[in-house]
Amino acid sequence: MGMNDVSKLQINFKRFKKRLDELNKIGAMNGGGVCRLALSDEDKAARNLLKKWVQELGLQLEVDQIGNMFITLPGQTDAPCVMTGSHLDTVGTGGLFDGPLGVLGGLEIIETLRENDIQPKRPLKVASFTNEEGVRFTPDMMGSLAFKKANTPKELYDIESVDGKVKLGEELERIGYKGEMEPGDFPVSHFVEIHIEQGPILENEEIDIGAVTKVQGIFWTEYQILGRAAHAGTTPIPLRNDAGLVAAQLTAFVREKAEALGGAGTVGITEVSPNLINVVPEKVRLTTDLRHPEKETLHELQNTVDQKLKELCDTEGTRFERKELVRFEPVDFSPEVADLIEKQAETLGYSSRKMISGAGHDAQMMAAVCPTSMIFVPSVDGISHNIEEFTKDEDLERGINTLLHVLLVLLER
Ligand code: GLV
Ligand code: MN
Ligand code: MN
Repeated sequence: MGMNDVSKLQINFKRFKKRLDELNKIGAMNGGGVCRLALSDEDKAARNLLKKWVQELGLQLEVDQIGNMFITLPGQTDAPCVMTGSHLDTVGTGGLFDGPLGVLGGLEIIETLRENDIQPKRPLKVASFTNEEGVRFTPDMMGSLAFKKANTPKELYDIESVDGKVKLGEELERIGYKGEMEPGDFPVSHFVEIHIEQGPILENEEIDIGAVTKVQGIFWTEYQILGRAAHAGTTPIPLRNDAGLVAAQLTAFVREKAEALGGAGTVGITEVSPNLINVVPEKVRLTTDLRHPEKETLHELQNTVDQKLKELCDTEGTRFERKELVRFEPVDFSPEVADLIEKQAETLGYSSRKMISGAGHDAQMMAAVCPTSMIFVPSVDGISHNIEEFTKDEDLERGINTLLHVLLVLLER
């Protein structure tokens, strides 16, 4: 097939699905879902499987110093590549599609182009970024953060796992994916990532394709609330310095305030010490995940939470310490690429709409490198980061075909 009759080109969905099913045997959990935490044995096995597939295609898998992996379909020229991709790591509770869709969708597109003898003008690269989820090592979107040179690999190697047992650099080395190449060492002309929506909008509105215009900001903070352990039966209420009470009050406040400001607020970790039935809690380690599409409102939400905690501590006679874990401001995507996504979706007969991403994605880091956008496909019941996460075959197929036709345009620029 020549470049002039590519308008009918379709991916081989069965081949994509077979690979997805095989990948998702790695880290499969009882009752569904997968758990492949970044740089774990499961992550290693997933990377090895991807490498095997790439080698079977006669292509090379390049690995950079932070473990990002790249598959290249050479172009007719050495002009800056067009890139797509996502991640293979997951949170602890799901991830059948969250990440793998973008990596294996990209691989399927490379194979489709090759078997149709299409050599585009620009090279096409498919990226599988390291540690997108950030649950075992913070921050999230780490590989793409390194790609945009926000941090050097050396700085990131010293990051400890959340259980404090290992360092990131040691784990990269142990699983065999500490590469030689400096992250972000080649030019990229455009980046487009396909991902499941992970929310309810497309399904509710019965729309096939989301063209993403923006990613909301994400602030992660860890707090230690410090009180005094005391006997649960004998200590009069006014004499207590109950860290658990303050944590509970703050948890309720985070949700209410985030909702009032039109954002999202979650206390995902609450660790109470000594965690005994008849002891007033002495210490609570608690995390907040605050999100909002508007920068000023996100900062307002964060400041209000800090202020509220101070007031709660003053009232209860406790104190707190605070550590900023992640400060990712909202990111605007390229309107031009988002328009192209809607145009190609329409050409393929799919309905589409513009939308904002509530989740963090590698694309938000790539937006600092080159014009970037994302393609969303519907999530059944809007559920994600859960073993029930599911997207229908026809939606996956529509999404990858839309990506194929978006890339075909960008590759010829
Ligand atoms: C990543 O999935 C995030 O949005 O936390
Ligand atoms: Mn993801
Ligand atoms: Mn995720």
